[in-house]
Amino acid sequence: METKNILFEITDGIALVTVNRPESLNALNSQVLGELECTLYEIEHDSEAQVVIITGAGEKAFVAGADIKEMAAMTAYEGHRFALQGQRVMLFIEKMTKPVIAAVNGYALGGGLELALACDIIYASENARVGFPEVTLGIIPGFGGTQNLSRLIGPNKARELVFSGRMIPAQKALAWGIVNEVFPRAELAGKVMDLAREIAKNGLLGVGYAKNAIVNGLNMVKEDGFRYESSLFGVLFATEDQKEGMGAFVEKRKAVFKGK
Ligand code: CAA
Repeated sequence: METKNILFEITDGIALVTVNRPESLNALNSQVLGELECTLYEIEHDSEAQVVIITGAGEKAFVAGADIKEMAAMTAYEGHRFALQGQRVMLFIEKMTKPVIAAVNGYALGGGLELALACDIIYASENARVGFPEVTLGIIPGFGGTQNLSRLIGPNKARELVFSGRMIPAQKALAWGIVNEVFPRAELAGKVMDLAREIAKNGLLGVGYAKNAIVNGLNMVKEDGFRYESSLFGVLFATEDQKEGMGAFVEKRKAVFKGK
């Protein structure tokens, strides 16, 4: 599919997705969201892609939020539909069987922070700034931010960030547990790629099941999560990857996973 605002390529099993609207700091309008959803769908069904990276084009921003210029004229009905469209993309990322890493290379605000929070792991550059400025615009986060942030860092810190609308620097986001790691800007892409390659070596099946257990387990009470985990654990014993992984250990060689 031809996409104007989303660039994507797959190299050695790593799918790199770039939100490419730098003149608007990669703001998410309905067209960008539609293209992002189609691209991610394609990647999910492409057996070559093992790990996904999402980043933003240009020097300044990962994604500076949902497109305020598009939202300015929306009716309540359109606003609701727009939130549902954004949430569909975020939920799709969570449901993908492939791990998704956000490379936050600058501003990640509003819908941009929501996009990063939907990913499995967030690496950020030192110049990144994150926040939820929605209340300064008379709205609230609408692409899952109130839910994902409070689950990630707890409701108190989430309330502080959302109620104040303030932006915090990458180091504070690290201290608060919003991002996994912070790197100098010039090193970010390489560090994200190193992590993606390290994950890809482990085979899609085990990593995908682990993602499934973590993401879905978060929506369960603990005992149900344990039950769910043990079912997935059991299913993996019916796979070639489990035979290969354990066989390779016993034979003292490196495992070569096939994802089946
Ligand atoms: N929507 C639409 N356009 C945006 C945008 C956004 N979220 N963020 C930046 N842009 C545009 C600017 O309007 C500007 O375009 P023009 O040159 O045509 O005027 C261009 O990108 C460059 O931006 P600035 O000149 O403002 O750049 P700056 O360096 O001075 O400031 C910034 C950078 C602090 C990030 C500032 O652009 C800003 O505050 N952006 C808005 C951030 C925001 O409020 N995001 C939340 C949106 S609401 C949301 O996301 C709802 C939701 O949860 C679904």
